[in-house]
Amino acid sequence: MKIAIGCDHGGYVLKEGIIKLLEGRGIQVSDKGCGGESVDYPDYALAVAKEVSDGSSDKGILLCGTGIGISIAANKVKGIRCAVCHDVFTASMCSAHNNANILAMGGRVIDQDKAEAMVAAWLDTPFEGGRHCGRVDKITAIEREYFK
Ligand code: RB5
Repeated sequence: MKIAIGCDHGGYVLKEGIIKLLEGRGIQVSDKGCGGESVDYPDYALAVAKEVSDGSSDKGILLCGTGIGISIAANKVKGIRCAVCHDVFTASMCSAHNNANILAMGGRVIDQDKAEAMVAAWLDTPFEGGRHCGRVDKITAIEREYFK
């Protein structure tokens, strides 16, 4: 598996630990930056979302101060279902019910241990399929209709 990861200065605090966790699981990491300097989160959202959208990465992780701005930006890219999560339950559910292909978190909201537990829960929870397939398909239909 390959995961693209990106952050702005507000999320940088979480990034190195998450990369270590991913590499420890044998996952290939594509680090799109930043290096901790003050940057604009949409640039990093786009870099990660493009890799997930075109299939060059299987999933993505995005980190900003709150997880909000970077997730909004990522969700503008075709095929992206980016979920901003705040705990292990929401991280697990965004995979089980929403088949989220990018997990977003806030470096000013959660600490390192929680972020790593959330990444593990997201990766270890499969999409349940079944009744959730039709709902995710409806999200894709909205995208087809309104993304021009
Ligand atoms: C940067 O100061 C901050 O606005 C950003 O990291 C993020 O929280 C935006 O949603």
